[in-house]
Amino acid sequence: MASHGGSWLTGASANSYDWSALFARRTARGGDELTAILSMAAATDVITFSGGFPAPEVFPVDVLSELVERLLKEDAAVALQYSPTEGLPRARAAVATLLEQTQGRGIDPADVLITSGGIEGLQLLARTLIEPGDRVLVEAPTYLGAIMAFSGFEADVEGVAVDADGLRLDALEVALSSGRRPKLLYVIPDHQNPSGLSLSEERRHQLVELCRRHGLLIIEDVAYRELGFEGQAAPSLWSLGPDVVVQLGTFSKILVPGVRLGWAVGPSALVGAMTAAKQNSDQCAGALGQTIMAEYVTAGHLDRTLETARGLYRYRADRMLDALEAHMPEGVSWTRPSGGFFVWLTAPQHVDTRALVAPAARLGVAYVPGAPFYTDTRGGNQIRLSYSRADDASIDEGIRRLATLIRAEL
Ligand SMILES: Cc1ncc(COP(=O)(O)O)c(C=O)c1O
Repeated sequence: MASHGGSWLTGASANSYDWSALFARRTARGGDELTAILSMAAATDVITFSGGFPAPEVFPVDVLSELVERLLKEDAAVALQYSPTEGLPRARAAVATLLEQTQGRGIDPADVLITSGGIEGLQLLARTLIEPGDRVLVEAPTYLGAIMAFSGFEADVEGVAVDADGLRLDALEVALSSGRRPKLLYVIPDHQNPSGLSLSEERRHQLVELCRRHGLLIIEDVAYRELGFEGQAAPSLWSLGPDVVVQLGTFSKILVPGVRLGWAVGPSALVGAMTAAKQNSDQCAGALGQTIMAEYVTAGHLDRTLETARGLYRYRADRMLDALEAHMPEGVSWTRPSGGFFVWLTAPQHVDTRALVAPAARLGVAYVPGAPFYTDTRGGNQIRLSYSRADDASIDEGIRRLATLIRAEL
């Protein structure tokens, strides 16, 4: 890697310019882990437990082919055009309908912002709110893309302890009673990335109350909310406190990531500022994806896709839990996900899961080590395992190989 220190013009030939000397301070802050995960998207020669990739088997190819053909024939002037920054009226209406159906809270479509996926929602929020040095609270562990989004704007991101019922409110109170006032709290209440666990219903009510009392803004990420294995999800934080919660959603896990579409809802001053920030980002989400999503949701197709998806992910989660039970040595533990894509594995303290990435790759297995999901030094002995995109045989064989590697470390 080129050095950051010296002159930017280190030689006469064009190839020897030290372009990295031009990088802004924030550019030097990470990013490699997510790039490495996405580079596995197309890999065919490894068993990959690494990314939060939906199963292609769930992609509704037939319905989408018919829909795209019709949209291009009948509606190309909208579907292939720029859209308003806040989203096409029909896409905002479809999200409002979806939220009413799944979260029981009505919203005026005019208050919905359509984003280019969940990560763009995080970017827009961070850009809108974060000054360098601002304190931001997250669950420990949390989605590494969120840590990157906040630290990319030079926030001091701080993890708050979780247990089997999600974020620990006593730990949050301690964090609130000391240090500078945090700018926001980021939580993933449903089938969390990376733990697969959910925030209990009781804590949801208490969390909203606590944050209201302290004037602390909650960013609720509902990426996996509709992928629960059992019955009804607990109330969303936004449905309990639209005055203190910005909810970020995405269609990446429940429809297809290829459309890069999501939403933001919450206090209007914030969503308005995010819309202004979007004008300076991609200006608008792709209209083709928005028209597809709007038709898909409005025609009731999403309900059917979700049913298939929940069944498949539940089956794969069970296969992974069986394989872990069968192969992992004593001393290794893991979570039992309530939905979503992930199992979170903890090996004995001295096992360095980052150091095992390369030997695992040589055995044809990919995973994400635990450390990047924390903002401090924790997670060195942990692993995030995604079962969402792996078939039965790969799950069993991949876990067997991983268990062999971990056993050798004990
Ligand atoms: C919790 C969470 N939020 C947001 C995202 C990003 O969503 P999108 O692909 O729509 O940007 C992910 C993707 O892995 C995620 O796990």
